[in-house]
Amino acid sequence: MAGEPKFRHNYVKLNRSARERAVKLSSIPWGCFGRDLDSTRTVAYDPKTTVRWPFAGRTEVAAKGMSTLVRGIHHITQCPGPAQQDLDFCTQVLGQRLVKQTVLMDGSIPIYHFYYGNADAEPGSIATSFPYSRKPGRRGSGQISRLSYAVPKGTMAFWKDHLDRHSVEHSGIEERFARKYLRMWHPAGMQYEVVEADDPRRPSTTKCISEDVASRGFFGAVMSVRSIEEQELFFVDALGFRKIGVDGPYHRFEATCGGPGSIIDLHHEPDLPPGSWGFGSGTFHHIAFSVDNDEALFAQKAHYEELGYTDASEVKDRYYFHSMYVRSPGGILVECTANVPGGFYQDESAEELGTKLTLPPWYESQRAEILAMLEPVTLPDENRRERTHRPFAGSTPVGASTTSIPLSRSNRDFARYQR
Ligand SMILES: [Fe+2]
Repeated sequence: MAGEPKFRHNYVKLNRSARERAVKLSSIPWGCFGRDLDSTRTVAYDPKTTVRWPFAGRTEVAAKGMSTLVRGIHHITQCPGPAQQDLDFCTQVLGQRLVKQTVLMDGSIPIYHFYYGNADAEPGSIATSFPYSRKPGRRGSGQISRLSYAVPKGTMAFWKDHLDRHSVEHSGIEERFARKYLRMWHPAGMQYEVVEADDPRRPSTTKCISEDVASRGFFGAVMSVRSIEEQELFFVDALGFRKIGVDGPYHRFEATCGGPGSIIDLHHEPDLPPGSWGFGSGTFHHIAFSVDNDEALFAQKAHYEELGYTDASEVKDRYYFHSMYVRSPGGILVECTANVPGGFYQDESAEELGTKLTLPPWYESQRAEILAMLEPVTLPDENRRERTHRPFAGSTPVGASTTSIPLSRSNRDFARYQR
């Protein structure tokens, strides 16, 4: 209509398109589509309700169970600087156990890949490091800005003294969402916090950090975003999280399964320039969430694509688990991870875990060359101490051999590339 504002015209067109789609959906017989995401099997939705999908708000979509595939945090990956500096900070200051020494599986130049975790190397406690002195990263928005560890209530005074003794820069005791916490800085610049929380997991300990004060694993993570809305849509619709509160600039979300390592805080920082996305020292690189098995991993990839997040990666073989990545709207790289049988224990016993450099079988023939290119490091004393461990924790895993969809880089594929 002449003279009518253009936005009004566009609104009418969009609304008609949605109505046409609704009619089309209503013609599909009951029982044709939809997924019961509790089990990943294909089931039916009643078209009387499904027909409203084009108009449904995100809360309604979530209430229909659009994604319950994603559990809590599996691991968080960071890029520190020198390897020894990272080993010393993560084991002696944070009190984590070095549970795996291996190498980055992408690219051609060997870079360490350290895994740190609690006493049982459980998913939900695993921080992984690519010591990356070659290039500095740029901290900013669109990144994970803080990694949160759960510590027992009443331990803030210990942690403050502990950080002072190690000359670690810290914030002093603070509070958000009615929990006390204390922020600290890694020598490379990444930020961590210890948060008071009830958490039954078994902690790793050191000479200076006893069991009654030690961290149990992740409480969660903080992400810096310039805008909340699109990242919130992603967490609710694509990952199935629920929003549980707002405290100042922090918007809190929880994975549907709840439990340890299931909290994400979006920190609204509208004026903070974007941080770097690639590997660079001093930054967090990505966060990984657990899914139950390979089938759930492929179902989650399809779910992303249904929602329009079409840049979801292929599923990659990371030897200890299988992974699929997508860049979330706020800029943070999000991985979903399915354990494989044996997990971290498939190439080391419980007693040996993290005591030597392990390589996936397809890199073993290059061990001498790889070792020669890695910087020498001294392992922490605690890492050599004999401990008792239970088998690799996690949901019932499904191995790569059971899926009919090939992974992007299997061991056999890698051998073929080497010919
Ligand atoms: Fe990862």
